[in-house]
Amino acid sequence: MRVARSFSELRTLLPPSRTVRTWLVPTMGALHDGHGALIDRAKSEGEFVAVSIFVNPLQFGPGEDLDRYPRTEAEDLDFLEGRGTDLVFLPSAGEIVPPGGQVTVSAGPAGKLYCGVSRPGHFDGVLTIVLKLFHLFSPEGAIFGEKDRQQLFLIQTMVRDLNLSVRVLGHPTVREPDGLALSSRNRYLSPEERKQAALFPSLLERTATRWSELAGRDPEERLALRDDLSRSLEGAGFRVDYVTIADRQTFLPVTGPEIPPQAFLLAAVFLGKTRLIDNRELSSGV
Ligand code: PAJ
Repeated sequence: MRVARSFSELRTLLPPSRTVRTWLVPTMGALHDGHGALIDRAKSEGEFVAVSIFVNPLQFGPGEDLDRYPRTEAEDLDFLEGRGTDLVFLPSAGEIVPPGGQVTVSAGPAGKLYCGVSRPGHFDGVLTIVLKLFHLFSPEGAIFGEKDRQQLFLIQTMVRDLNLSVRVLGHPTVREPDGLALSSRNRYLSPEERKQAALFPSLLERTATRWSELAGRDPEERLALRDDLSRSLEGAGFRVDYVTIADRQTFLPVTGPEIPPQAFLLAAVFLGKTRLIDNRELSSGV
């Protein structure tokens, strides 16, 4: 496995993009099997798999967990080696986010919804770093997790709106046996909170099932599932940041009376100090 820590090292270690199909998996490290699944997927799509690890300060707001975000470089390198990664890029902050930098990407209106409300500027920071990575790697494609649905949507929107020639694919969420989505932040949970956390995905799942069962019924009745879910989550000890039903195509909130055929149920909650996000596809909206 090749390891690059600067742009110049990266340039010498990357294969020529015209002849070798490189697939990129951007990460912030503290790697787990969710990241591993993206790497496996990248291997099945391309010939050369590159992973970047960078805890991107641009996407953390004041008072967020930038300083305490887990940094586990030695374990991550072992993990990547074991997964058959061809190249790992660990850029220094000073090079990839130069001091005094002024130009950034704006995620537009959809970046100000949902996670963008409680994390202002977060998606601008994500898109800015992802664009830089696309530029540095010129990959044929890149894989992102469906766990971060809004992030995936906005990256796909950036590719479309800025005419980038990178194929962006989403990969299904990898979960613990009790349904909790794997996340680098799960390690913040106390053993007690970790047990409680499993209620989050199961309440989302229950709402998604109910949504399908109510297909064809009064839209108001179906949209009330959103508030029911909020109440159930609060009742189960979570502090709800948001619960929303978003149109799959536009990502705008579904408010009725029209119900799109496909939508996403998206939610973010706090358990103690830890913020968890998850989502479910909602189908049979007609
Ligand atoms: P990070 O949280 O490290 O996640 C890296 C990638 O792994 C993202 O595409 C994320 O959606 C995916 N991922 C995380 N948990 C997953 C799970 N349980 N199942 C499947 N995929 C999962 O997301 C970021 O980093 C950053 O915002 C980044 C895109 C790297 C830009 O800084």
